[in-house]
Formats: sequence, C-alpha cells, structure tokens
Amino acid sequence: MEAIIMQVQSFLIVALMLVGILFRKRRSLHVKIMSIAMIWDVILILQIELSRSAILKASNAVSNALILNIHVSIAVSTVLLYGYMVYSGRAMLSGKVHFRKNHRIMGYTTFFMRIMTFVTSFWAVVPKE
Ligand code: HEM
Repeated sequence: MEAIIMQVQSFLIVALMLVGILFRKRRSLHVKIMSIAMIWDVILILQIELSRSAILKASNAVSNALILNIHVSIAVSTVLLYGYMVYSGRAMLSGKVHFRKNHRIMGYTTFFMRIMTFVTSFWAVVPKE
C-alpha cells in the first residue's frame, strides 16, 4: 500500500516537471514549479528511506538486487542533476545567459532520468510469489 502512495507521488512529480518544462519561457513560474517539484522529490526520498521496512513488510516484497541498484543509481544521479539545474538556472537569472544551452540539455536529461527513476521503481519491488 505504501509503495503505491510513493509511486503516485512519483508520477505527480514527473507530471509537475513536465508542466514546468512547458512553462519554460515564463521564468518566474518555471522556477517556482521546478523548485516545488525538486523539493517534493527530496521529501519523497526521505519518506521512502524512513519507511523502507514498512514497505517491505506491507507489500511482502522481495527486491531484485541488480535492478534495485540500477534504480537507486538513476535516482541518485537525478538528484545530483537537480543541483546543476539550480546552479545553471540561478546563473541565468543573474545574467549569465551562456548557461542557457547547458541548462536546456541538462534539463531534458534530468527529465529523462526522472522518468527512468519512475519506470525502474516498478521493477525494483517485485511481489513475492
Ligand atoms: C529539474 C529542473 C529544471 C528543468 C528540467 C529545467 C528545464 C529548462 C528548460 C528545458 C528550459 C528551456 C531552455 C531553452 O529552451 O533554451 C529552461 C529555461 C530556464 N530555466 Fe530551467 N529547468 C529546471 C530548473 C530551473 C531552476 C531551478 C531555475 C532557476 C533557479 C531555472 C531557470 C531557468 C531560466 C532562467 C530559464 C530561461 C527562461 C527563458 O527562456 O527566459 N530552471 N529550463
């Protein structure tokens, strides 16, 4: 049950990020939406970490070690990319316009990685037979 609540939040974060990208030309709205999405994502990771044993008990799940490692690696990379997005986004706001191309490329990369985090979360927890 808890796993589903986490995955619903994960989906909503991906959807919010898509909305933020669609509003990329409206700077202050873009910054607000992306900030909320990234903060919510960090809160989601904390929820998962704090209730890991609860998830395993509740869903009676076994984790596939390899796919779980892949999932966690993608998720950690995504959060590291958030750091770069904040850095390059703030740089642009302070007038360093040459960050724009990097911000765009890394932005779409970050979004792709976040989708992969969502997709692999379904493989990471496999119901016990
Ligand atoms: C995961 C988070 C983020 C993603 C995926 C993302 C993605 C993007 C994308 C795709 C663009 C369009 C670039 C272009 O077409 O040239 C853009 C523009 C921009 N972003 Fe972000 N962004 C994120 C976070 C942020 C943050 C945190 C800030 C500021 C603190 C920021 C500030 C900006 C600014 C100032 C622009 C230029 C808007 C304009 O065209 O005037 N972004 N972003």
